[in-house]
Amino acid sequence: MKTLFSLTLGLTLAMGVKAQQVNVIPQPAEVVIGKGTVDADKTICSYQTTATPVKEGAYTLTISKNSITIETGDDAGVQYAEETLKQLKAQYGNAIPAMTIKDAPQYEWRGLMLDCSRHFYTLEYLKQTIDRLAHFKMNRLHLHLTDDQGWRIEIKRYPQLTQQGAWREFNQQDSICIKDYADRPEFQLDPRFIIKNGDKTLYGGFYTQEELRELVRYATERHVEIIPEIDMPGHTQAISSLYPQFTATGEAKWGTVFSYPLSPAKEEVYTFMQNILDEVLDIFPSQYIHIGADEVEKETWKKSDECKALMEREGYQTYEALQSYFVNRIHKYLRSKGREMICWDDAIEGGDYKASDNSGALESSANIMYWRYWVGGVPQHVVEQGHPIIFTPGDPMYIASLGGPLYNIYNYDGYDKIAPEYQHLVRGGQVCLWAEGISNYRRADYSIYPRLLALAERLWTPNESRNWLSFKKRLDVAKQWLSAQDIQYAKTDAVLSAIQTTDLQHQQMLLTFDSEFADPDIRYTLDGSTPTMNSSIYNNKALAITKPVDVVAAIMENGQPKEPMFRRHLEYHKAVGAKVEYTTRRWHESYKAAEMATFTDGKRGTDRGFGDGLWQGFTSSFEVVVDLGKEMPVESLSMRFLQDIGPGVFMPGSVEFSFSTDGTTYGSPLVANNTTPNDVKGVFVQDFAVQTNSSTRYIKVKANNTQGGFIFADEIVVK
Ligand code: ACM
Repeated sequence: MKTLFSLTLGLTLAMGVKAQQVNVIPQPAEVVIGKGTVDADKTICSYQTTATPVKEGAYTLTISKNSITIETGDDAGVQYAEETLKQLKAQYGNAIPAMTIKDAPQYEWRGLMLDCSRHFYTLEYLKQTIDRLAHFKMNRLHLHLTDDQGWRIEIKRYPQLTQQGAWREFNQQDSICIKDYADRPEFQLDPRFIIKNGDKTLYGGFYTQEELRELVRYATERHVEIIPEIDMPGHTQAISSLYPQFTATGEAKWGTVFSYPLSPAKEEVYTFMQNILDEVLDIFPSQYIHIGADEVEKETWKKSDECKALMEREGYQTYEALQSYFVNRIHKYLRSKGREMICWDDAIEGGDYKASDNSGALESSANIMYWRYWVGGVPQHVVEQGHPIIFTPGDPMYIASLGGPLYNIYNYDGYDKIAPEYQHLVRGGQVCLWAEGISNYRRADYSIYPRLLALAERLWTPNESRNWLSFKKRLDVAKQWLSAQDIQYAKTDAVLSAIQTTDLQHQQMLLTFDSEFADPDIRYTLDGSTPTMNSSIYNNKALAITKPVDVVAAIMENGQPKEPMFRRHLEYHKAVGAKVEYTTRRWHESYKAAEMATFTDGKRGTDRGFGDGLWQGFTSSFEVVVDLGKEMPVESLSMRFLQDIGPGVFMPGSVEFSFSTDGTTYGSPLVANNTTPNDVKGVFVQDFAVQTNSSTRYIKVKANNTQGGFIFADEIVVK
């Protein structure tokens, strides 16, 4: 008898056969447990290939009494079946339960980006990383090889690029690393990359072409494609400090935000970059070549007569279109060599391919890496232009921080939000390790693991076979493998997260907790005090909150609450569940939060940022009316706003609250003014509050967008 093993629930099924939890990451698409066990060592593996075309890497692994069989259409499938078998042997030893695994990747692009420019890593470390990618059935290693801070790839025609460009005196970021890790020897700068040159201390390194060819061979054997990124026309100070004549003003300087880019109006720039690409293509046989094209500061182009003349000649209205001219020329060159180009999503801003005036648009065959998560509607715009898309939105896919919830990577749903008619353009996703603060390989490992495993499963396993609880259990086992590889993975990833819902019927808030530990000891208090071993135990049942409380919850480890703790003020205030009418324009489509329910759902936007799903975004002023359902006394009101000036999010100049008993006639408003300076960097939250002594049913709230850009608002709290 065969039993369909429900991995998604990790259930023990009846029918006389005890279903087993197979500890494989990523979770195979389908596992059917058979009868008895099989001696894995005595059995001979036999391979056949299937005739039907299937996804690259698809395989069927049959473990039965007489044989272990791998059926697959390609070599990657053999490797993935063997990886699965290895993980099964690690779990069961030589007595593996009979089973059939039918498996195939959900997405073709399952990647990791390493930034070798900001800090350099050995070839040996890159090979280890390839081994680990292969173990989890990942198949792309994107190497960010050039940037302002270092040129890491030998170019024989221009040897100075590495002779000088690969070395720097310690910069500000290096000094921060040196200071931050003074007490953490395991994260200190790698002494192998620090040299003396006369009286100068230099830091850096580069890969010879021979080394990179060896790396490509190593990766190819493991079905990992290495995608080199040669960033242009911006992020090129390693070039411009040697060849300042290539910028629009002939200077190699730092602009307002980014370095001066190469000029798109100089023919010698194309010749130079194409000569470099010729050598890059000779080293890397990859289908894809990444040319960056992100964060190009165009101030120098605006000062250049050559750039203006080129714009006039081509009929461009914007400097973004001029950037497209550059990218399209490089794209055309790469296509003439039989390769596909990838660039970051900033590069699509030059024009609309489908519009009548399509000058300035990128060729639709350009592959786009989506990273600017704060810009609304980018993925949809990318696919509507016909571009294949690779998802690497900064939140949650940029992983440089010392730890962060795996949950967000595991459950990121941007891929699914692309309309069905464009799904064929979704290539997959990757996490990116930008390395300004990634001082050495140990620090890199700390950021990459275990987050890479969450991504591996997200991109490999079909949605219907993925399950967070099951993943957490298997992750506990996989961590033993990580340790055995001498990987010091992030322990801070086991943070506590909370899910809050509102129960209108019983007028209560419900709070449940989750973490990346399979079976954590969670304790909590409701009075704002730090949990101890004497505090209430969270027993996987939602906490029902009816009174105002200050919840503090923590995972206990060795008797102590683990940081970061969860802290939230919860209150079933008078407007929870109240109907909200938008009298002016509604929210921005990309930041709709819980739509009409956002402001009265009892959840307050957090200081995690405007992308936390709780904040609602507006590009104008807005006005709403809250209906409390009946007239009642009101003593105080507040509404919360968020500022984050980097992406252009500001506080409203003021927020006005006015009252009405009939919904028609309102008294003069009470006004709360902005007190947050508009040059405070980072995420900042302000409650705009007023006191009153009124009796009212309707409350009109008007937020005045006086600084342009976005305003982000949440909960209207009425007491
Ligand atoms: C990027 O993070 N600048 C692609």
